Amino acid sequence: MQVIASYNIKGGVGKTTTAVNVAWLAANEGKRTLLWDLDPQSAAGYCLRVKSKGHGSKLLRGKSDAGDVIRSTDYENLDLLPSDFSYRHVDVLLHEDKNPLKRLQKVLKPLHDDYDVVVLDCPPGLSLLSEAMFRAADALLVPTLPSILSLRTLKMLLDFRKENKLKDMRLFAFLTMVDRRKKLHNEVMGSRGRMRPWMLESYIPYVSELEQLAERREPVFGYAPQGRGAEAYISLWREVQGRMAG
Ligand SMILES: Nc1ncnc2c1ncn2[C@@H]1O[C@H](COP(=O)(O)OP(=O)(O)OP(=O)(O)O)[C@@H](O)[C@H]1O
Ligand SMILES: [Mg+2]
Repeated sequence: MQVIASYNIKGGVGKTTTAVNVAWLAANEGKRTLLWDLDPQSAAGYCLRVKSKGHGSKLLRGKSDAGDVIRSTDYENLDLLPSDFSYRHVDVLLHEDKNPLKRLQKVLKPLHDDYDVVVLDCPPGLSLLSEAMFRAADALLVPTLPSILSLRTLKMLLDFRKENKLKDMRLFAFLTMVDRRKKLHNEVMGSRGRMRPWMLESYIPYVSELEQLAERREPVFGYAPQGRGAEAYISLWREVQGRMAG
C-alpha cells in the first residue's frame, strides 16, 4: 500500500484539487484507492459528493474503525474516508494520545490488504496532525505556487524534513496555477532544474476547468477529459509513479 499525501504548509494552493484528481487517476488504473480527507473543511468529500456520517475524528482517538466510516464513491475502485467538522479538534485529540505521531499509521494499518493507494488530502499548517502524517506517508505531493513566498514556505518544509530526519518520506513538489503570461511564473519555471531532485518536471497550469472542480463536483476527467488540466495531472501522476518506482 502506497500512502501519498497532498500537502503544503500554505493554504489555497491546490492540495484538494490534486488529491481528488490523483486519487481518481490511481483508481482509474485499477488500483484500489482510498482518499482520506483530513481537513475539517471536507472539500474532498464535497467535490466527490460524499458526506460524512459525523464524528469522523473518533477514528483518530481509536474509538471507531476505518472500515465503519469508509464510503464508496461514484467511481470504481475509489473509496473515501470522509472528514467532517469534528476534525477541527484533531490536534487536541492527538495531544492527548500517548503516541500521537504513530496515530495515522495505526489507523491505516488494518487497511494494508484492502487498498493499493491511499491519498491524504491534508489541511494547511504544520501541526501535530501534519507530523503524524509525515510518519504515515511514503511521499508528499506539494503543490507550490510560482511565487517567492511559496518557495520560501517550501524551503521551510525541506528544512523541517531534514532536521526531523524524515528522509524516508519522499517529497515531490510541483508548480501549480502556472500562468505563462506572468514574468515571475516563467522565471520560477525556468529555475525548476536547480530545485531538483524534489521539484518535479511536470507542472499544472492555471486553467478554468480545474477551478471548476468544486462547482462540477467531480474529478476533472469527468467533465474536461481532453483539457490541459486533465493532461497535466496525467503527466504529474506518471512522473510521480516513475519516481516512486525508481
Ligand atoms: N491549476 C489550477 N487552475 C486554476 N484554479 C485552480 C487550480 N488548482 C486549484 N485551483 C483553485 O484554487 C482554489 C484552491 O484550490 P484547493 O481548494 O485545491 O486548494 P487547497 O490547498 O486544498 O486549499 P485549502 O488549504 O483551503 O485546503 C480553488 O478555488 C481551486 O478551484
Ligand atoms: Mg484543501
